[in-house]
Amino acid sequence: MARVLLGVSGGIAAYKAVEFVRLATGAGHSVRVVMTPSARRFVGTETFEGITGAPVLTSEFEDDPMRGRFPGEPPASQDPIGHLELAERADAFLVAPASANTVAKLASGQADSMLTTSFLACSGPRLVAPAMNDRMLADPATRSNLDALRDRGITVIEPETGRLASAGEYGKGRLPDPEALLGSLEGALSQGGTEEPSGSLSGVTVLVTAGGTREPIDGVRYIGNRSSGRMGRALASAAVARGAKVTLIEANPTAGSPSGVEREEVETTSEMGEALERIFPSADLLLMAAAPADFRPVEAIEGKLSRGSDGRELELEPTEDLLAGVSAKRRSDQFVVGFAAEWGSDGEERAREKLKGKGVDMVVLNDVSDPEIGFDSERNEVVLVTEGDAERIPRGTKEEVAEKILDRAVEARAGSNRG
Ligand code: CTP
Repeated sequence: MARVLLGVSGGIAAYKAVEFVRLATGAGHSVRVVMTPSARRFVGTETFEGITGAPVLTSEFEDDPMRGRFPGEPPASQDPIGHLELAERADAFLVAPASANTVAKLASGQADSMLTTSFLACSGPRLVAPAMNDRMLADPATRSNLDALRDRGITVIEPETGRLASAGEYGKGRLPDPEALLGSLEGALSQGGTEEPSGSLSGVTVLVTAGGTREPIDGVRYIGNRSSGRMGRALASAAVARGAKVTLIEANPTAGSPSGVEREEVETTSEMGEALERIFPSADLLLMAAAPADFRPVEAIEGKLSRGSDGRELELEPTEDLLAGVSAKRRSDQFVVGFAAEWGSDGEERAREKLKGKGVDMVVLNDVSDPEIGFDSERNEVVLVTEGDAERIPRGTKEEVAEKILDRAVEARAGSNRG
């Protein structure tokens, strides 16, 4: 467990920092908080002090009653220089939310508060999570400040797109959820430590699709499939835990959204296609675990077909192959993983055809004829097919299999020119 220094700057999103501290301490980390003077307009120091059990510092001239120690550490015998000691002892420093003003100060190396001074003095991994209005984020000044931080090896956690603090405003600039912030922090800690980074996805944007689509026959009936979305949700959750920023496009969800994941719900294959078109361009890694229908009724009948009606023959048309479509348009730095649901144990050849035909980097093959591992089951057993290789992953829970898929995808992505 790590000593985490959290810097909170002024912004509405400061309330999420409170939840982050609760999560981080709950996960066993020892947390100290430093705040800019304007952050105190949004959250009181007492809130953080109550959760961390340690004083919050704002000014670099303030005395630190804990003499630079973290909760749980033995008291210091002599009085060190507070702001330097705290920064020195921190295993990682996260600034969340980082306002445009704080980003600018950190980029130019200013040291006019406890937060900015200790940030400059910290030699451990440093992460900055900007949160601001979309126009402020898009301004070239902010963009070049963030680039300057990246150039110094500081991790910038990408803000999310969604509803912003000002009424009615929508755009990029939202602070990611506390779970995602913790995932990024833990990813950075494992990379900074002595252990081999175990497939970290820190700073990587992952898009996962899940679930089975429904193609309407009439107002109440549809053509669907048994996919429960469980494999996709397990992948999304595992990617968040590795520090990725994750969006999940899920068709007809059968369970709640995994925490830390931005979920978009769709119903039909073409709705999933529209969401993919919109979100895929900003993804680094696509995991296409969904089961989109291959056929849809040519026309959905308005209202409800009655038993007596003579429309008992359904005319079907093929849907778009979403995966082939997006992978044909992808950039060279995007890594794409498809899935192949095959009936029977001899699916490898067909999976290989899908690898080529759909132009993807890896295909996760599973045999959906086995009820224990097929659609709507809790377990899975897959073969990871890449060009010239096939790796069998033994039967396990979908969560265990998700970890193996991510391990292999991270490895293959690093070995390719796509990441
Ligand atoms: N897929 C897709 N669009 C569709 C159908 C499938 O993008 N309309 C994707 C799935 O999400 C999966 C991959 O294509 O990642 C393979 O799906 P699968 O059902 O195994 O193959 P199909 O392409 O549908 O071919 P077939 O049913 O003939 O095996």
